This record gives sequence, C-alpha cells and structure tokens, in this order.
Amino acid sequence: MRAPLVVGNWKMHGTVAEARALATAIRDGLKRPRGVEVVLCPPFTALAAVAEILGAGPIQLGAQTCHHEAQGAHTGEIAPPMLAELGCRWVLVGHSERRKEIGESDEVLNLKVKAALAHGLTPVLCVGETAAERRQGLTFTTVEGQLRAGLAGIGPDGIARTALAYEPVWAIGTGVNATPAQAGEAHGYLRGLLSELASKEVAQTVRILYGGSVKPENADTLIAEPEIDGALVGGASLAAPGFIAIVRKAARVGAAAKE
Ligand code: PGA
Repeated sequence: MRAPLVVGNWKMHGTVAEARALATAIRDGLKRPRGVEVVLCPPFTALAAVAEILGAGPIQLGAQTCHHEAQGAHTGEIAPPMLAELGCRWVLVGHSERRKEIGESDEVLNLKVKAALAHGLTPVLCVGETAAERRQGLTFTTVEGQLRAGLAGIGPDGIARTALAYEPVWAIGTGVNATPAQAGEAHGYLRGLLSELASKEVAQTVRILYGGSVKPENADTLIAEPEIDGALVGGASLAAPGFIAIVRKAARVGAAAKE
C-alpha cells in the first residue's frame, strides 16, 4: 500500500516573509494530515525559515535541487549535507525546468540521485516528455531513457528509497493537465521498468507522482488512478487554500483505496 504523497514545489517564488506566511497557513490548515504525506519545497533562501515553522510536525521539508558533491569549489551550488542540516528530507532531481534552463543531463542527474541517497535525502526523480515527443509517439521512449539513466547503477535498496514524478513538459504551468488515463499509462510503464531495474516487490512500493497543472479541481480524479500515488504541485501550491484542498483530496483517495 502506497500512501499518497503531495509535494509543493514553490519554484522561484516568495521572499522569506512570504514563505513564512505560506508555510504557516499550510501548517495551520493541515493540523493532522492523515493517510497522506506532505512535503514543501521552498526556494533555498527560505528553507531555514520554513523548517522553523514546520518544526517536528507532520509536514516535511524538501529542496528543489542539489549539487552531486558534498562540498567543493562550485560557486552558487548547494550540497546535500547542507540541505540535510536544515531539516530537508526530500529533494527534487531533474525537474524539466532544470533540464531545459540549466541543461542538467541525465548523467549529472544520476549523480544527484546517488548523492541524495548517500546523504539520507529522498530524491524525487522527475521525468516527462515534451509536446513534440508525445506527438511523435516518443513518450515511452523519452521517459524510459530518463528513468534508466537517472537510476543507472542504483541497486534495489536505493530504488526503494526513491520517488518518481511523471511530469509531461506540455502540462507544466500550462493549465492543461494530462488526463488520468494518459498519466496512468505512463505511470504503469514506469512501474514496469522499476520491476525490471529493481524487483516487482520494490516497484510496488515506489511512489510515482503526477505533476503538471494539478489543481483542486483535478487532483482527485488524477490521484484516484491506481498507478498515480500523489502529486507534484507547482502553481497551485503557492496559495494555502488550494494546496490544502489538494492534500485533503489525496488523503480521501488514499483512505478510499484502503477500504
Ligand atoms: P504546475 O507545475 O503545477 O505549475 O504545472 C508542476 C511542476 O513543475 O512541478
């Protein structure tokens, strides 16, 4: 049984003061989230402030990326142990914006997944096809390449401590989400690959989130899809009421699945 996981990716939004206000509103609105795990990924500059607000409560802290080395001459970068020290337990790896804007390669992302695992962080490896790739029938080819490269050299134990996010690039920030059937198909394909790369048992435990224009209005039908284990939420995680509504819907779907 995979408990639903909802991750809010705040991207490059918010001053420390705004992050404090948002984290406080989410914390207070979700006093005891049951049957669902919740993670907030603020910008680096707000991690310490948000960590303080979340304290030892049930909402967890994550970062949006990390460097693959533990320290060194890498101006502007942030190392996994620095994130762990601030209380992060999660880190996004290979978000499509970083693949595209920063040019992060599958090889570097593989190093980042390994580095996150080595420092006790759970990596959320993001994969997804562009609109052109989908039009050309290359959806599975693309996500398979990203998954195999991202998890190369990682054994079943490491894969078991990883989460995936399927985020079709054409759905991110566009308001056009993948349909539950489109996402379910991709998730099923990814889970099949996980069976091959780790084992059937491990594949059944790894959470595969859907991301791309998740909103309160579509969260429940997406998360109700059996292969979809939660959501990676961008835009809709920036306002507490909408994000709380998504978490509540995920919790309801998770509870219904258990009955
Ligand atoms: P979105 O972003 O929810 O704004 O589409 C999702 C993401 O980029 O993780």
